[in-house]
Order: sequence, then structure tokens, then C-alpha cells
Amino acid sequence: MAQEIDFQKCGFGTRMIHAGQAPDKAYGALATPIYQTSTFCFDTVEEGSSVFSGERVGFAYTRGGNPTIAALEAKYAALEGGEAAIATASGMGAIGGVLVGLLSQGDHVIRGTCVYGCTDQVLRETMSRYGVEVSEVNTGDLEAVKNAIKANTKLIYFESMTNPTMVLTDIEAISKIAHEKGIKVVVDNTFTPPPEIYPLQLGADFVVHSSTKYINGHGDVIAGAIIGKAEDLLPIRKGITSKILGTTPGPIDSYLVLRGMQTMELRMKRHCDNGLAIAKFLESSPYVKKVYYPGLESAEQHDLAERLMKGNYGGILSFELKEGIQGMTAYDACKKVVNAFTIPSIAVSLGDPGTLVEHAASMTHGNVPEAERVKAGITNDLIRVSVGLENIEDLLADFQKAFSVLA
Ligand SMILES: Cc1ncc(COP(=O)(O)O)c(C=O)c1O
Repeated sequence: MAQEIDFQKCGFGTRMIHAGQAPDKAYGALATPIYQTSTFCFDTVEEGSSVFSGERVGFAYTRGGNPTIAALEAKYAALEGGEAAIATASGMGAIGGVLVGLLSQGDHVIRGTCVYGCTDQVLRETMSRYGVEVSEVNTGDLEAVKNAIKANTKLIYFESMTNPTMVLTDIEAISKIAHEKGIKVVVDNTFTPPPEIYPLQLGADFVVHSSTKYINGHGDVIAGAIIGKAEDLLPIRKGITSKILGTTPGPIDSYLVLRGMQTMELRMKRHCDNGLAIAKFLESSPYVKKVYYPGLESAEQHDLAERLMKGNYGGILSFELKEGIQGMTAYDACKKVVNAFTIPSIAVSLGDPGTLVEHAASMTHGNVPEAERVKAGITNDLIRVSVGLENIEDLLADFQKAFSVLA
């Protein structure tokens, strides 16, 4: 009965619990079974041939499809309000799938200046090896985006909120500019998943995710997703990701993501509440030079944040400390504070239940050339925090204690 409901019309919590998951037909298992098999067998050669040719719906080999992965793909589509989705074994698998699936030699891509370090490497080094031209543009500057468009521009690629500088892009405005020229828009929505930002509703053509982060939400899986129109996804699915280059996630990981997504509404609410509370704490600290969190009323992009995120400002933020505290450089002061934390772990990634802190210049963005990091605003003094789901009183007390080493 559950399958007859159009979950796109339901609230976020309902959608994330039920979409893609119906009781299993074999035994009525309510939780989606983990079909841990590499291959599927047939009663006859004729049956096998018809599944392989696509005449008959079915599964043949897990690299190309599997019932547990199919359930996850339906839930990914429901997450973003997309028609279809491709599950991948990592966020980079999703990003690589879109780039390799949609671009050919001689094409041109406009990319946001500040992107995740490995994405930067793919766009800066790998794509050029295959004869794809890439222009780096501040996607916050609409005129700059318009001016960068060429006759061979195929894609505009950016992060909904940049990693680690938390700069938002007006997705609606960029999509309008792109579509007038027949260009597709790809948004990495890892930092601001629903219920924060819905890029497809704002006109983007593809959303990519590192589901490793908020979507799975438990810090125990590497996974990714590409979401969009079924027709747009076809060349990626058939030619690149699952079938050919093999970026398919395993059934157990797919099950874990399915399980994690069922509590996404509750988790995201807590991440947003805790994120705002920590951002306000940092803003009020006399040692802090700048807080990167567009949810703060004082933030330069607060109006855009309000329009895009409608009060759900998320749990990820960065900050820089002032120079000269106790005669230290800002970087040394950062290290002193971070080393004094008890509850947060010093670790990359984000969206885990526990709070994570990292030094972007030497960790997540360590593979970006220094000059490019500076251009993207990633200073040596910048600390990124993924605020977790702990009780906020405990987190605030731990931050206060850590900051007291600067007194
Ligand atoms: C914004 C963003 N996109 C993509 C990725 C890559 O995801 P994964 O580690 O799942 O491959 C990351 C990883 O940190 C990220 O921060």
C-alpha cells in the first residue's frame, strides 16, 4: 500500500522514511534486504537474454544493478525531488561520473573557484589531460559567469556552499544564464543537503552528493549520488558510472545509507540548531577574527542564505582567529585551541554524529596549489568545524574550555 503514495507530496521526514522502501516481496521483510550477491541466476537462457537486452526488467550483475541499490536510488531521487538517481561508491565517483559522462574533448567547463580539493584536482589536472578546457570563475559574480561562457561551454559546475569558505551561489540566477545558452548546471550539494537547499527546484540540472556526509550521517560509509532527470542521467548510467567504469556501491553500504536517511530530518534539525549556536558563540568570542556561516545575521550573504535555506543554515562552519593573541600567529593560536578540544575529533569529513574539526589548508585542501588556495580564500588560519549532534550545553562548555587557553 505504501508504494501507492506519491512521497514527493509528503513532508521531508515521511519521504525519507518511506520513499524507495516497500516490504520485500519474497518474505515481507519490512527493512530492505541486503542483496549481497555479485550475480543473479535465471531459469532459462531465454530469460537471461531478455534481462540482458532490457526487454524484461530484472537484475543480472550487481555492477549494473541490484535491488538494494535500486531502493537507495529511489530514495536519493526523493531526497532532492529529482526524477531519478544513480548511486555511486563515493562522492568523487558521482563527480567523476558527471564530468566523464557529459564532457568530450574540445568542450569547455566553467567551475567555481573554491571547490573540494579532489574535485579541484580532477578539474585542474585530469580534465585537461582529456582535452577539456576549464575556466575558474567566482560563481557569486553573475557578470563574470556570463563573460566566461564560450561557444563550446557545456557545463557550469559549483558547490552550493563552498568548502571550506561557506560562500553561497545564487543557483536560480546561474541556471537562468546557463539555460539561455543550452548549458547544463551541476551543483555539489554535499554541504547543504535538504532540507537546506534544493538545487533542482532552483533550476539546476544535476545534483551530486558525497553521501558519506550528512545523507548517511553516521560516519561509517563512503558513498555518493547523482540526481536529475531520467533522460539526462541515461548517458552517465549506461556509458560511465555503474555499467562501464564500475563506481557502483556495495549492497551493504547501500543498506547503511538507506538506514541513515530515514532519520535525516531529525538529524538535520539538530545539526542546524547546534551549528547556529556554535556560530554565535564564535562570533561573540574576542579571539575570533571571522566566522564563515551565512546563517548569522551579520553575515554578508545572510539575505541569500535566508532565501535559499529558509532558516536551515546547517552544521558546518569555519573560523579564523586574530593575529597576536599571546604574541602568537593566528595559525599557532588555532592549533592551540584545536588541540585543547575534548569532544570534537580532529578529522576531515562532515555530517557525522560527532563534531569534527580540521585544518583545511593542510588537510582537505592540502592538494590544492598554495597560490590557488589563497585565491579561493582558504587561508592558513582557517579552521573548519562540522558541528555534530551532541547536546549543545556539552559542546558549548567544551568550546569555552578550549578557548580559555587563549586567555
Ligand atoms: C563538497 C564535497 N564534495 C565531494 C566530496 C567527495 O566525497 P567522497 O569523499 O564521498 O568521495 C567531498 C569530500 O569531503 C566534499 O567535501
